[in-house]
Amino acid sequence: MKTAVIIPAAGVGRRYGAALPKQFSVLAGDPILLHTLRIFQASGAVDSIVIALSELHRSRVQQMLNAHHLTKVAALVTGGAERQDSVRRALENEATAEADIVLVHDAVRPCITTDFVEAIIEAAAVHGAAIPGLPLKETVKEVDAGGKVQATPPRAGLRSIQTPQGFRREILKQAYEQAPADALVFTDDAAVVEKAGFNVQVVDGLESNIKITTPADRWLAERFLQGTA
Ligand code: C5P
Repeated sequence: MKTAVIIPAAGVGRRYGAALPKQFSVLAGDPILLHTLRIFQASGAVDSIVIALSELHRSRVQQMLNAHHLTKVAALVTGGAERQDSVRRALENEATAEADIVLVHDAVRPCITTDFVEAIIEAAAVHGAAIPGLPLKETVKEVDAGGKVQATPPRAGLRSIQTPQGFRREILKQAYEQAPADALVFTDDAAVVEKAGFNVQVVDGLESNIKITTPADRWLAERFLQGTA
């Protein structure tokens, strides 16, 4: 069974004047993207990696690959306007064509382990589509544009979803082929697969696997990466 990993890393940071996008900022001594890539490079279950990036950052990533012997990175593709466009382009690259399983993992989630990655690959092989999720600690409310509460969905039936998300390649490919290119914004790949009518299985998420978004996330992620949290 062959596994390819797609890393969408083409976000450019939306705030005017923002420094480098998050995936290139340094945490615990190395760029976040490098921490993320090292895990997939280290897993014996991963065969190839495709990174979607902005052309603005191609030479930066190429230098990173050369300096750190990330030999599994088979292609660097140009990302698109939305995350889903970046994933679509990576999926169309021939480096994923041989794979039975495709994982998609956000560049900005470096606090994972090879065991965790391999559990998702196995679950994807069994279920066709498998995604990690954690129960919610807080109550979630649906609100209108003015902040007025519209509904309180029962918490027990909700999960906070992470990446890597794993799919049999044929399922992910078919789902992306069916998905309208511009009409809808999907916030994860499972949503594309659900929309195409496939079942998606939630498996255990990993507490450390935070998506680095805020300064507080950086603080915590640095401690996870240093093994002090
Ligand atoms: O900003 P967002 O939450 O969508 O970012 C999640 C991941 O998707 C990040 O690693 C980011 O670099 C990537 N992304 C991408 N192409 C885009 C937007 C985001 O690859 N057009």
